Amino acid sequence: MAADIGIAVLASGSGTNLQCLIETPGVGEHLRLVISDKTEAKALDRATDAGIETRVVRWEDFASREEFSSAVMDAVDSTQCDLIVLAGFMRVISGGAIDRYANRVINIHPSLLPAFPGSKAVEKALEHGVKVTGATVHFVDELVDHGPIIAQNPVPVLPGDDTSTLHARIQTEEHRLLPEVVSAFIDGRIVVEGGSVIWNDT
Ligand code: GRF
Repeated sequence: MAADIGIAVLASGSGTNLQCLIETPGVGEHLRLVISDKTEAKALDRATDAGIETRVVRWEDFASREEFSSAVMDAVDSTQCDLIVLAGFMRVISGGAIDRYANRVINIHPSLLPAFPGSKAVEKALEHGVKVTGATVHFVDELVDHGPIIAQNPVPVLPGDDTSTLHARIQTEEHRLLPEVVSAFIDGRIVVEGGSVIWNDT
C-alpha cells in the first residue's frame, strides 16, 4: 500500500476514536475527510480543530438507504481516499456502496464479534451476564457488524458494572486497537485471504 494513502472517517457522535486517530503519529496525517450523518456531531468539531475537511450527509435527505449510502461514497470518492473507517457511525451502509471499497472499509464495534452485533452491544453483554466482552475491528461486508475480523481485545466485565462503566473500559481498548489497525493498514501489513485476515509482520 502506498504510504500516501488517504483516510475518510465516518462518525455520528462524540468521536473519541477519531481523536485517537488524529493524535497517532503516522496515522493523523493521512486523515483527509470526516463525514457525519449528524450536523451536531462532536466528531465534526474535532476534525475542524485538526484542520480536516468535513462533510455532513444527512439520512433525512435521502429516500432510501441505497441513495444515502451512494452519497456517502460519492463524498469519499471526491477526496480520493483509500480507506474508510467507521468510528461510531450509526447508519448501515448498503452492500452495493460497500462493494466500491471492498476490503477497504473497517469498523470498530464494542463487543467480541460475532457476539452482540448491532446496537446496544454493551447492554446486551450485561444482560447476558458474560464475564468477558471487548472490542473488535473488522472489515465491513454487506451484513451488519460482519466481515473478516482484523483484531480484538478482551475486556473483563466486573461486578457492579453498568453500561457506562463497561463501555468506558471497552473504549480504553478501542483507543488502543483502532490506531494500531489503521497504522498496520497504512503499512500494508494487513491482508485478506479467503475471508480471513492475515497480519504480515515480517
Ligand atoms: C464506540 O464504542 C464504537 O465501538 C461504537 O460507537 C462508539 C463510538 O465512540 N461503534 P466515539 O464516538 O468514537 O467516542
